[in-house]
Amino acid sequence: MKKLFLLGFLFFSITLFAQTNVVIVPKPVSLQMHSGSFNFDASTTIIAEKGSEHEADMLNVYLQKLYGFKLPVKTKIGKGTFIVFKLLPGTERKDAYNLNVGSNNIIISSTGNEGLFYGMQTLLQLLPETKTETASIPQLAIKDYPRFKYRGMHLDVGRHFFDVDFVKKYIDYLAYFKYNTFHWHLTEDQGWRIEIKKYPRLTSVGAYRNGTIIGHYPGTGNDSIHYGGFYTQEQIKDVIKYAQERFITIIPEIEMPGHASAAIAAYPELSCFPNESTKISPKTSWAGSRDGKQVQQTWGVFDDIFCPSEYTFKFLENVLDEVMALFPSKYIHIGGDEAPKTSWKRSAFCQKLIKDKNLKDEHGLQSYFIQRIEKYINSKGRKIIGWDEILEGGLAPNATVMSWRGEKGGIAAAQQHHDVIMTPGTYCYLDHAQTKDSDSLTIGGYLPLDTVYGYEPIPKELDASEAHYILGAQGNVWTEYMASPQKVEYMIFPRMSALSEVLWSPKQDRNMDHFNSELPDLYKRYQLWGASYYEKK
Ligand code: ACM
Repeated sequence: MKKLFLLGFLFFSITLFAQTNVVIVPKPVSLQMHSGSFNFDASTTIIAEKGSEHEADMLNVYLQKLYGFKLPVKTKIGKGTFIVFKLLPGTERKDAYNLNVGSNNIIISSTGNEGLFYGMQTLLQLLPETKTETASIPQLAIKDYPRFKYRGMHLDVGRHFFDVDFVKKYIDYLAYFKYNTFHWHLTEDQGWRIEIKKYPRLTSVGAYRNGTIIGHYPGTGNDSIHYGGFYTQEQIKDVIKYAQERFITIIPEIEMPGHASAAIAAYPELSCFPNESTKISPKTSWAGSRDGKQVQQTWGVFDDIFCPSEYTFKFLENVLDEVMALFPSKYIHIGGDEAPKTSWKRSAFCQKLIKDKNLKDEHGLQSYFIQRIEKYINSKGRKIIGWDEILEGGLAPNATVMSWRGEKGGIAAAQQHHDVIMTPGTYCYLDHAQTKDSDSLTIGGYLPLDTVYGYEPIPKELDASEAHYILGAQGNVWTEYMASPQKVEYMIFPRMSALSEVLWSPKQDRNMDHFNSELPDLYKRYQLWGASYYEKK
């Protein structure tokens, strides 16, 4: 009889656990499942203890958005089931949290509001993937905190423009997977996307192009559609606030000295050759006038870059003043990548500058350019980030390096005791194809989910003291071949979910088989959001 009872109990526990398939991405540091469940419904009360009101409100923001209802928020525990947000005393690890689900209460606690927010995001993952007002949440105990302090996703809004609504959606995707940084790539050859009051032509001229190539570069023609858009400063403030409410820092990128065609189209004096028309390759199918400086209609790297003149430096300082007034981020990204030296080589002004400043060559001039901008940004209490080309000709003294052309740049910068963010193309470029027989138009390359998941941001070449300079990593989303929000979603999901685990979860706990087993649930979650995604074959 006793045996039978035990067998019955065992069977009951197994079915209970089978019903309570918990999928939390990124995988928490520690998760203990208990028996029993918490019955969540629209009568559950949120208890916001002192200092946690914002996170309590944010839970309601998400419940309303995802499930169409809100819960009452109170400050004291009463009858029924409740969810408590508890801000603990102490200053340790403000991004760590505990989440305990009991029979009639859920307690989210942390020493920081950030930790409470992450706990709230985990709670959302315990709720159903379908629109419903009731849920049975398994009893469990989670202790959790991130591995890396920089967990980033980037979005290029230059090649294609994405409106504020989508940018906010994107920020919500980041928040769900516990990213804490949004790298907003705001200026490009094909469009300048941020209003700068002092230079209105940056947006009246630079934010629009007369057409876009059709298909893969060099294209089968030009669509001749006037295309563009930009964010007003009011919209930027609104997006920054939206991100702050979700504990996401926005790092703005203002590209220099390359990828400057749109700025030059607006203010030709920024070029070393203001009177020369933009060179358009004979291979490029073009819409509208070919005369004068033009916003680019095709993809690639272009020779007409910022001239290192006093006019340009004053312009950039004025632009950066407005950018820094908007963005509270400690970092300002100044680009630095893919700046051909062709026009500097044939410019008498640049050659004289190289001599006068005792520089070695045009790479030395790029280093001079970046260091001058760094000094300006540092003088305002901010720091620069640049792509790994800023190593060439000598690294600016306080710069953080984003390593994109493989890991080499990151390794070299860490060895020089500079902070590094890893974004190597082979693991982090989410614009690359997800299948070998690319199922949609992409820039090329091949970056399957498993490769992203298997990425290790700390290169083995670094010893422990150098590894400390690797702040984290970032997924990059270049949008030459992503003309719609749906395409962006298709390219980031599920790869950004995989990368979140690289950045958050303990290295030894990552397991591709386990992640694969969670994919069907992740797909359902994307469906709940109405998001597109790639389904692994
Ligand atoms: C880059 O992908 N050009 C940084």
